[in-house]
Amino acid sequence: MLIDPFGREIGYVRISVTDRCDLRCVYCMAEHMTFLPKKDLLTLEELHRLGLTLIDQGVSRIRLTGGEPLVRRNILWLIGQLGAEVKAGRLDELTVTTNGTQLRRFAGQLFEAGVRRINVSLDTLEREKFQAITRWGRLEPVLEGVQAAKDAGLKVKINAVALKGVNEDEFDRMLAWCGAEGFDLTLIETMPLGDIEGDRTDQYLPLSRVRARLAERWTLTDIPYKTGGPARYVEVAETGGRLGFITPMTHNFCESCNRVRVTCTGTMFMCLGQEDAVDLRGPLRASESNELLESAIRDGIARKPKGHDFVIDRRRKKPAVGRHMSVTGG
Ligand code: GTP
Ligand code: 5AD
Ligand code: SF4
Repeated sequence: MLIDPFGREIGYVRISVTDRCDLRCVYCMAEHMTFLPKKDLLTLEELHRLGLTLIDQGVSRIRLTGGEPLVRRNILWLIGQLGAEVKAGRLDELTVTTNGTQLRRFAGQLFEAGVRRINVSLDTLEREKFQAITRWGRLEPVLEGVQAAKDAGLKVKINAVALKGVNEDEFDRMLAWCGAEGFDLTLIETMPLGDIEGDRTDQYLPLSRVRARLAERWTLTDIPYKTGGPARYVEVAETGGRLGFITPMTHNFCESCNRVRVTCTGTMFMCLGQEDAVDLRGPLRASESNELLESAIRDGIARKPKGHDFVIDRRRKKPAVGRHMSVTGG
């Protein structure tokens, strides 16, 4: 077991398999991004070896993120390899966070590979707004992809970043839609990660306010349901569905953090909101045995910080951390 200096068991690793994405969500990326050269990326074989090593060290859940994980060439191979660990009982869960654009094509294969749950990032159900938020995207293929996922037997959670003046008028509709489709919905507070065009203060919407507003119309009851992620869930009596709130800004959940992240270049960040990191690519490439890698992972966990110190504030122009979400993985 990997245990950090604050006694937290680290059993959950989020691995970003690419920094690339076929969308350009306004809160996530600048429109013109420079992506990493291919040689800097871990190969799929290296990602597989890393996954196996983490499992050996007691990691029980792996989530693949990006960028958009499904735009990485041959990603299904990696998903199949890690899925085999789930089927063999060595890994409890393999999940994927996706923007949904490629799901029509991949949903069935994901299920066959051993994935049972996916999170789809979808901030709006309105076609024009979707295009405005993602800059390039089209809503239809994503909605079809989500249906394909449902048809394939995947449990779907919709993740929406709450954006002031953008989608705040839609949460009722999204809640109703998710309830009808049998999807969980989680709302997320926007975090100051990476420079974007425009001012994050204009986008930031505290979820405490959103919850109060939703409670005027829906019967929301706190429930102890947990997936291992930071969301706190309520049950929505009218739909029978679940609504989660991810509140890094208004309510810090770092004290129960159980996770670290690895970027597509093999850098392990011990906290989404801090700069400290250890390199795993060097040890992966330096020797065929896993000793160096294992010891680098242990060194990182031994330095895991207590939490982030995000602030969104007009006077503070710089983001809390310079990297975009697409680098660290959502
Ligand atoms: P499950 O694995 O299904 O429990 O989901 P999750 O909510 O942990 O994962 P998901 O990929 O749906 O994450 C949703 C969003 O929550 C991410 O995109 C981040 O914005 C935020 N988030 C996840 N983990 C962390 C974390 O450790 N710290 C902070 N600050 N935010 C996080
Ligand atoms: N703050 C909060 N969530 C973000 N995401 C991307 N950038 C941010 C940010 N700055 C979310 C996406 C998606 C996941 C990959 O990360 O909406 O759900
Ligand atoms: Fe791509 Fe997700 Fe970032 Fe949007 S939030 S640009 S879909 S990585």
